[in-house]
Amino acid sequence: MEVKRVPVESRTVETPIGPFIISLVREDLGGVYPGMRRYTVEIRHAEQCVYRYVINSYEQPPHTLFSTDEVAEIVFGRLAYDVAARPQHYTEALAPVHRALPGGTYDVVILQGSPRQFGSSATLAGWCADEASRQNRSAHIFSVHEMEIRPCSGCYVCYNQGICPIDDDMPVIIKAIETASLLIIATPVYTNTVPAGLKAVIDRGQALHARHTLLGRPSPGNGLLIAIAGRPGPEPFECTRSVTNAFMRNIGIHPAGEITIDRMDTRRDVRAIEGLEERVRTAVASLL
Ligand SMILES: Cc1cc2nc3c(=O)[nH]c(=O)nc-3n(C[C@H](O)[C@H](O)[C@H](O)COP(=O)(O)O)c2cc1C
Repeated sequence: MEVKRVPVESRTVETPIGPFIISLVREDLGGVYPGMRRYTVEIRHAEQCVYRYVINSYEQPPHTLFSTDEVAEIVFGRLAYDVAARPQHYTEALAPVHRALPGGTYDVVILQGSPRQFGSSATLAGWCADEASRQNRSAHIFSVHEMEIRPCSGCYVCYNQGICPIDDDMPVIIKAIETASLLIIATPVYTNTVPAGLKAVIDRGQALHARHTLLGRPSPGNGLLIAIAGRPGPEPFECTRSVTNAFMRNIGIHPAGEITIDRMDTRRDVRAIEGLEERVRTAVASLL
């Protein structure tokens, strides 16, 4: 996405150890969210960036004391004052922001949404991974309830530099999704939607959205939903589908296929459903 950068203010502060240039830049991120603005205050010294402060207008709830525009101005003025007062605190070049994410890369990433390790979703995920390796593609199943994934805190900081400040296992999933060619979600329906652990991953996908829209990070072209429910009929899948499709579309994935399996309260074992394994394998193979 093209981001328009507007220089707002720039000041040179002369000090005994040389000049410092402080700049305030506004970016219009209205293409990401309505009215979103991002401000960057940067201090440069001896051709290097030695300090950077970034804030966007979605970070602040409506009733904060200062607007984002005011905060940016205040930080700019305060830093100009501080640099003049103690320039020696601003001499070290900033480390690059975009550190490599941890974890592996796979052709197929499978988010397994059930907390039951040996449940139906785990079996379905296993068939998907096995079919990928039959097709000579690597695959990895993330059993999200086994991982430490905290809920999104709604801080919107990911729209500053594409990095979520929460320190847990999510970066491993982000890296895997960004480098895969197919994303599969294999999940039970819980209260008409996905279980909480998977919902946490989906909400934390906000960072993926930020990276995709602002940094141009890639995402798998296609997504496949395999959802399983206790009750009969289409109703349990309506909200589930809506949630997983929104997640996929947000990060540039085309929801290309869907398999829904109802009546598990009476059917009990997915392995006993005639033709299901074949349907799952065919769907995976066709999307590779
Ligand atoms: C907390 C909870 C909520 C559930 N909510 C629904 C629901 O709203 N609709 C439905 O059809 N089944 C619901 N189920 C049933 C599961 O979707 C079903 O048992 C499924 O087969 C479990 O898959 P798993 O073996 O992969 O865990 C729920 C189960 C649990 C434990």
